[in-house]
Parts: sequence; C-alpha cells; structure tokens
Amino acid sequence: MAKVAPSMLSADFLHLADDVEMVNANADIFHLDIMDGVFVPNISYGFPVVEAIASMAARPMDAHLMIVSPEKYVKRFAGCGVDMLSFHLNAAENPDEVLDMIHSEGVKAGIAINPDIPVESLYPYLAKCDFVLIMSVFAGFGGQKFIEDTYGRIAAVKAEISRTGSRCLIEVDGGVSPDNAEKLVNAGADILVAGSSVFKASDPAAAISAMRG
Ligand code: DX5
Ligand code: ZN
Repeated sequence: MAKVAPSMLSADFLHLADDVEMVNANADIFHLDIMDGVFVPNISYGFPVVEAIASMAARPMDAHLMIVSPEKYVKRFAGCGVDMLSFHLNAAENPDEVLDMIHSEGVKAGIAINPDIPVESLYPYLAKCDFVLIMSVFAGFGGQKFIEDTYGRIAAVKAEISRTGSRCLIEVDGGVSPDNAEKLVNAGADILVAGSSVFKASDPAAAISAMRG
C-alpha cells in the first residue's frame, strides 16, 4: 500500500486547521513545498506556516525544499520538527554534505530531481538517501499536468535500488491523482504526493483512499 502525502500548497489557507485535521484523519504524511522565488519562479510559504502545521500535525512532516543553498536551512527545518527533508540535486554544491547535515539532525534525507535531470544522476547517492523525490512536473507550481515519462524513470530508479540492495524509498510529486496512482505504485513509487487531486476533490478522504490502493 502506497503512502499518500497531501501537498499543503493546495490547502485552504483561510481554513488551514480544517485541512490539517483532514490529513491527520485520512493521510500518511504532510508534504510541505518550500519555494524561494530563485530556484523556482514561485514563492510559497515559510516558517510561520510550517510551525502552525507542526503544532497540530499528527502525521510525519516532509519538507520539499525548492530553494538555493538548502544547507543554510537544514537546522531550521529540523527545529520545526520535520521528519523528512529533501532538496534538489542541482541546488546543492555538495549533495553528500547536505545529506550528512540532515542525518545529523535525526531527519530522513532525500534528493529531488526535476523531469529534465537524468535519473542516473541520483544513483551515486541512493545508498545514503532515505528517499528520492522524482518530480513528475517541473517544480514550482501545483496543478500542473503529469508527465508520462515518469513511469519509466521511477522503474529505472527502482531497478537500481533493488540491484544495489539499498533501502531508499521513491516519492513521486506532481499531477498525481487516483487516475495514475496505481500505475505509479506498480512502477515502484512508495510515497505519492498529491495537491490538487486531494484538496480540489469533492471528497478528499475518498481521493486519498483511492490513491492508497
Ligand atoms: C510542485 C510541488 C508539488 C505540488 C503538487 O512544485 O512540489 O508538491 O504542490 O501539486 P499537484 O498535486 O497539484 O501537482
Ligand atoms: Zn513538492
């Protein structure tokens, strides 16, 4: 069974507590998209919102950093109580060091890649990553169309994980919905991030359970 991580970027910020309760009751992980307007063209939200979610989150929190110099903020996010922290491979000068920093805070570490980065570039880090985040849209905005190449990219990473015997999990993010969830899980995805397909659904709990399989 896949884990579902609703992306809080699509939550209703005027009624955030209701959406946090909904995730607590129905989903597995809070996915928190942190955008700086530099690494990606959009700006999302920062520490006050993360802390507010943390104050009532009963599920693990997963911060997806779409920012330059991720190493500068590892401690601060760890201090907010996040359980998983990912950064983009091409945002870090020394990815190995950032992974070590995250681990030294007792947080699970992951590397994210956009759809135009070859999956092979993740392979040297698989032994050290608790998870990798395969983007199925270009990072920056919710509500984009799922890129079909993603199935093959996930399957390739999954094969490499099996071949090398690593315990790295695969998280997929962007355009994930009940329509493609099963195929993504069959390709090897362990964690499904979903924003619009959860929060714009008439019945978010049903959308989450349809994706869990
Ligand atoms: C995009 C973010 C995603 C996004 C997912 O840059 O990383 O987490 O919020 O939203 P949907 O599911 O609407 O594509
Ligand atoms: Zn994300």
